[in-house]
Amino acid sequence: MKLSLRLLVFASTFLFGLYFIYRQLPPYGLYNTLTQSEYRASLDLDDRNSKKYVWFKQLQGAGFNNQVQEILLYHHLARLTNRVYVFQPLIWQRAPRHSPLPLSAFLSGVTNGTVAEAMFSEVCPPSETRHLTLDRENDALWDHAVTVLNGSDRCISIDNHFINWSFLASSAIRTIWSSFKEYLSSTFKWSAQILDIAERARPTEPYMALHLRRGDFEGHCDGLALSQTGFTTWGTLPELKDTVFPPKLNVNNYTSVMEHCYPSLRRILDAIDSQARVNPHVNTLHVLHDGSWDHPSVYLQFYKLEAAVKDPRRILKAGWKGGPMKTVTHSGTLPLRSGESDWGVAVDVELARKANIFIGNGYSSLSTQIVALRLAKEGARTKDITLL
Ligand SMILES: *[C@@H]1O[C@H](CO)[C@@H](O)[C@H](O)[C@H]1NC(C)=O
Ligand SMILES: *[C@@H]1O[C@H](CO)[C@@H](O)[C@H](O)[C@H]1NC(C)=O
Ligand SMILES: *[C@@H]1O[C@H](CO)[C@@H](O)[C@H](O)[C@H]1NC(C)=O
Ligand SMILES: *[C@@H]1O[C@H](CO)[C@@H](O)[C@H](O)[C@H]1NC(C)=O
Repeated sequence: MKLSLRLLVFASTFLFGLYFIYRQLPPYGLYNTLTQSEYRASLDLDDRNSKKYVWFKQLQGAGFNNQVQEILLYHHLARLTNRVYVFQPLIWQRAPRHSPLPLSAFLSGVTNGTVAEAMFSEVCPPSETRHLTLDRENDALWDHAVTVLNGSDRCISIDNHFINWSFLASSAIRTIWSSFKEYLSSTFKWSAQILDIAERARPTEPYMALHLRRGDFEGHCDGLALSQTGFTTWGTLPELKDTVFPPKLNVNNYTSVMEHCYPSLRRILDAIDSQARVNPHVNTLHVLHDGSWDHPSVYLQFYKLEAAVKDPRRILKAGWKGGPMKTVTHSGTLPLRSGESDWGVAVDVELARKANIFIGNGYSSLSTQIVALRLAKEGARTKDITLL
């Protein structure tokens, strides 16, 4: 009796484990099909021989958003200078999911009318490709890149990673904002898969999205506070000055940097309260977070937030006029089907882009990318954004 019970428990655990692994498996068939169509489209490009091309050295195996961020900037740069962007596959950070994935599974805008890296040598024989490096002070780097790429060489390979962290963190990024914003409005587009899941996941009621950046961030923030670093990339745009939740950031004050970079739950809740008071129609909250088996405490913080925004007595005291949040969802409750886990982050970003209100972290490149995408929407309002 005891033995068969043990066997039963063992067998069901085993089957459940198998099922769990199966659900996480990427859709290899779809990825192969997309890769093949990327190759075909690259070779079918109109006037292939009269076009100019550029390949850039890019980050590989970094976080999803870090890869997307620079892919969009490089694609923009290529378009500005009338070159076809040679795109590279997406490569995951974590070992088991390391296989190169077709970029068209994620970014339709970037992979439309451009060339896949694997076909680069077909359109640009190595003997006809000019290899260059771009090196200037951050403030002069972008214009220098535009001048070089606007030159007459048909095929250019930029062999140094020049849109690097030092550039993205500098004030130079602000001078390219107005053209990049136009690029985002006209050209940025998620893949059909991402749009489809995002549509499935979209709250039916007006909603607020909150990016709870936790995980490994506390140590990172400590380093930023010690080096007196301010908000990252698009978080530094002057038009966002009034979106920063008070008190003002003072980079020379360690406590101030920590307060903005790794805000307490109290402070996050104050920011939610502040938006909820002026947006009484918003009754749903979606929380983007980085909780996982190696950062379980993020879930605990999420549950505390959820309880607080649903507590009728607390929100009344906090001055909400529209009643507590009816629905609270988070990154872990996205309605992903088997094989869709590669798209989770992008779906979260899309949900935050479309949200009525967005509360993000000015030190997070994911939050500031969301802010950039929101500002590029028609009718965008900075008062619907709060940076913690
Ligand atoms: C690709 O871009 C062209 C214009 O450049 C546009 O007409 C077409 O709809 C785009 N295709 C997709 C799938 O977005
Ligand atoms: C970033 O790129 C610039 C321009 O190419 C270069 O001068 C600088 O050393 C690079 N910085 C880092 C940290 O790699
Ligand atoms: C590229 O060069 C052409 C002439 O060679 C010039 O008319 C055009 O303004 C340049 N474009 C940029 C973005 O610098
Ligand atoms: C540093 O920032 C903290 C948090 O905003 C603030 O309470 C404190 O007064 C600031 N210290 C100074 C010296 O400005």
